[in-house]
Amino acid sequence: MNIIHRRGWEIPESALTPEHFFFNRRSLIVGAGAIALTASAASAQRASDVPDPTADLYPAKRNAKYQLDRPITDEKVNGNYNNFYEFNSSKNVTAQAEKLPIRPWTVTIDGMVEKPQTIDIDTLVRKMGVEERHYRHRCVEAWSMAIAWGGFPMAKLVELAQPLSSAKYVEMKTLQDPKNMPGQKQTWFPWPYTEGLTIAEATNELAFLATGAYGKPIAKVHGAPLRLAVPWKYGFKHIKSIVRFTFTDKRPMSYWEHLQKSEYGFWANVNPQVPHPRWSQATEEVIGTGNRVPTQLFNGYGEYVADLYKGLESERLWA
Ligand code: MTE
Repeated sequence: MNIIHRRGWEIPESALTPEHFFFNRRSLIVGAGAIALTASAASAQRASDVPDPTADLYPAKRNAKYQLDRPITDEKVNGNYNNFYEFNSSKNVTAQAEKLPIRPWTVTIDGMVEKPQTIDIDTLVRKMGVEERHYRHRCVEAWSMAIAWGGFPMAKLVELAQPLSSAKYVEMKTLQDPKNMPGQKQTWFPWPYTEGLTIAEATNELAFLATGAYGKPIAKVHGAPLRLAVPWKYGFKHIKSIVRFTFTDKRPMSYWEHLQKSEYGFWANVNPQVPHPRWSQATEEVIGTGNRVPTQLFNGYGEYVADLYKGLESERLWA
């Protein structure tokens, strides 16, 4: 294994972007930029201007059980350093993401459930209710942020679905919309973006479906209108702009696992002692602060989640 032990600022940006193993980053960015300049972008912009019908639910009451050890990352800093490959593979995706129409938006719950359904996002959010939670976020690329999410525990969605006892996993999928998500025109990627959790993970009290951030409806760049936040796992598990939850007895194959199985697995729990094959995970750059701090096991959430992995020690739990 080619393990690189270097301090963060010595890691070239190319080594921090998980995509660089097989495509030319620059040509993708240029291609996506050209697409954004077409006339269809102007109409997409108009379609995206619909006011959020759930805006009155924010800011929501904070659930103070979940405390941070650092200040919340400035909203502008967070909104200008993102990963959202459906738009492009740079960290600058906000302008393109802003053009995505997010109403109407439906969420389908299907597979091994008692209550298969397709539900309008605004109905779902009002049914589930909204609370605020402050969570750390640790990307596999060795950077971190802290975010004030709004949303609801994923356990509530599982309850709505009523999975059959034979269901073991929940697979999630992002919207497939190449017209408005130009990165999806790169057909060699395994679109739509897919992620999965065990049902035990999905019903853990920390697993959260974010519909808001920073005291208002979640910005498109962060995955509006519905995005996963599982703070003990690396950021690539935090799937954005979700349209489908499928309950299944088969372990889902996620987007990154599909692309590079040797580097990105199903579990992806944060562990500073297990390096990524190409860089150390011992520390993280806290974006917006200029600081590097030690990374914590399970990103500091071990008291909530460590028990989930007892008996699974033979699995590749950490990447
Ligand atoms: N979800 C989708 N659909 N597409 C993506 O490219 N990137 C993931 C995750 N969810 C991604 C995604 C990665 S690698 C990270 S670190 C986080 O989103 C980044 O979320 P943020 O941009 O809101 O910080």
